[in-house]
Amino acid sequence: MPLTGRRTLTQYLIEQRRRFPEASGDFNALILDVAMACKAIARAVAFGALGDMLGNHAAPDGSEGGTVNVQGETQKKLDVLSNDYFVRITEWGGHLGGMASEEMDLPYQIPAKFPRGKYLLVFDPLDGSSNIDVNVSVGSIFSVLRAPVADGRDMTEADFLQPGTQQVAAGYALYGPTTMLVITVGNGVAGFTLDPNLGEFMLTHPDLTVPADTQEFAINASNSRFWEPPVKRYVDECLAGKTGPRGKDFNMRWIASMVAEAHRILMRGGVFLYPRDSKDAAKPGRLRLLYEANPIGFIMEQAGGRASTGRVPMLGVQPESLHQRIGLVFGSKNEVERIERYHAEPQQKEPDNPLFHERSLFRV
Ligand code: AHG
Ligand code: MN
Ligand code: MN
Repeated sequence: MPLTGRRTLTQYLIEQRRRFPEASGDFNALILDVAMACKAIARAVAFGALGDMLGNHAAPDGSEGGTVNVQGETQKKLDVLSNDYFVRITEWGGHLGGMASEEMDLPYQIPAKFPRGKYLLVFDPLDGSSNIDVNVSVGSIFSVLRAPVADGRDMTEADFLQPGTQQVAAGYALYGPTTMLVITVGNGVAGFTLDPNLGEFMLTHPDLTVPADTQEFAINASNSRFWEPPVKRYVDECLAGKTGPRGKDFNMRWIASMVAEAHRILMRGGVFLYPRDSKDAAKPGRLRLLYEANPIGFIMEQAGGRASTGRVPMLGVQPESLHQRIGLVFGSKNEVERIERYHAEPQQKEPDNPLFHERSLFRV
């Protein structure tokens, strides 16, 4: 055991690699580069207003309105900086054939001056970025896939459209009261805490598991009028508590940083829903399949939890486009399965409640 009494991320990765004697070390080097990007982002986040890092990313004409990404969302300064850190720190090592990010419309091609490798990196450089200006936890999410070919050619969008089952690794960093890195390389889930003095991620949470049952759920209830009936039924039953069909009281949380909700669920169980809804016909869900739903889904499944669209397992979904959005439900296995059952059952008629009659105050 090292002097510090804990294994570092590097030591953990070396141990994992010993399961594959033929491995070249490229993969470990890539994960360490990603960890370095996360440390750089953690530092920028920690400096906040002192680093002049709050607010919107200035448009080229200098206006404060901010730039807009391919999703039509205003970019924060830290969204753009975090994307730059991911790109600059991982592009040179020779491990990547290409990358894709929430903040880049098209696949990023590794510049000709660097060698190209056999992996693809897909990431959300800063998740929950609406929380930056109010000093609430944010994070980064990443997924590692194999490049379909490693012959040095440019990567196309189609090269990235692989179902979540094909992920080689996935992880997230959480910039909260402490900075943590949580990863899976397909052999369980491990959590590391950044030692700010050593600048090292130390293994503090080996073998994370999600309890199968929970009494805590997370959903943005302001969207309830757009929910589909199975989601409405699930939430109504939770809200009904002890005297309702579930026979127990539930607690609710909403941080608006999915990465922070995922972390809470890994620590103590729970269920998270950002389901498909009817809010905007052009957006079948809020969160993105390739760099939000799949990596978090892989981690959940590796921790004994479950991730789903509500209808089918998330990791089996064949992606259709780089920035595709999808309904997402994840967390404690028995709750996610219950939500899937509600979607599979023939839709029941809404119970007749006078509060919800046509002219009632509570009509939704
Ligand atoms: P991002 O900051 O990468 O765009 O993602 C934000 C996501 C997710 O983290 C969070 O759960 C959700 O958006 C919050 O949505 P609401 O604004 O509807 O609460
Ligand atoms: Mn996000
Ligand atoms: Mn983001």
